[in-house]
Amino acid sequence: MFYYALFIALTLFTVVLHSKPATFRANQPKPCCVPNQFSALITTSTAAEVPNAETVATYSVFNFSYDLTRGLVGAKGISYSIIDQKESNLWIIENVAENQTYIIDLNSKKCIKESSSIGLFHCIPESATYLYSSMHGFDNNQFKGDTWYVEDNNAVSFVTVSDDGNCIPVSTNTFISNPHAVNSATITNYVPKINDPSIFDIPEECKNIV
Ligand SMILES: *[C@@H]1O[C@H](CO)[C@@H](O)[C@H](O)[C@H]1NC(C)=O
Ligand SMILES: *[C@@H]1O[C@H](CO)[C@@H](O)[C@H](O)[C@H]1NC(C)=O
Repeated sequence: MFYYALFIALTLFTVVLHSKPATFRANQPKPCCVPNQFSALITTSTAAEVPNAETVATYSVFNFSYDLTRGLVGAKGISYSIIDQKESNLWIIENVAENQTYIIDLNSKKCIKESSSIGLFHCIPESATYLYSSMHGFDNNQFKGDTWYVEDNNAVSFVTVSDDGNCIPVSTNTFISNPHAVNSATITNYVPKINDPSIFDIPEECKNIV
C-alpha cells in the first residue's frame, strides 16, 4: 500500500477537468495550458489515510518528465517515508494511453505494474477560480505566478502557474476526499524539453510481469 502514496505524490496531474461557464473579470488572467513537453524537479509532501492500511506520510524528490503528445510521465528519484523512516529509490513510468503505471524499486529491482493511471494534467480548466498572483524569484529574475482554485468531485487543488505566456507549473496543493489525502508539490529546474528520453523506457524487470 506504500505505493499507493506514490500515485498521490504525483497528484499534480490528477485535476479532473470539469466545465462550468467561465465568468472572467476584465483584469483576471486566462486559464492556460502547461507546455506539451517539459522536465523539472518535483518535490512533494504527501499524507494519506490508505483504506485498510496505515497512514502514509512521504517527502519525495523526483526528476520528472512529461510528454503530453505521447501520453507519458516519467519520474525518478527518492521518496522518504516519515513514519518508518525509510528511503526508497524509485522510478515511475506512466503510460496514460495504455492506462498502465510501472513502479520500479531501484534498490531491489522489483517492478510493480498497476492497471491505472492518474492521467495528465494539461490545462487550468475554464471552471477554475482565479485567486491571486504573486512574484517568484528575486531582483531582476522575477516572474509572475497566478494561483487558481480547481475543484472536482473528489479533490480541490490550488495550482500556481507562471503568467509569462508559458504557463509553467510552479506549485500545487491538493486535498483529496477519498481516500483522505493531502499533497503539495513544488516544481523547480524547469526546462521545456525531455532531459533524458530513456526515463520513459520500460526496463527489463517490468517486462515479464503481468
Ligand atoms: C536528477 O538528475 C540529475 C542529473 O542527472 C542528477 O544529478 C540528480 O541527482 C537527480 N536527482 C534525483 C532526485 O534523482
Ligand atoms: C484504467 O484502468 C482501471 C482499472 O482497470 C479502470 O478502473 C480505469 O477506469 C481505467 N482508466 C482509464 C482512463 O481507462
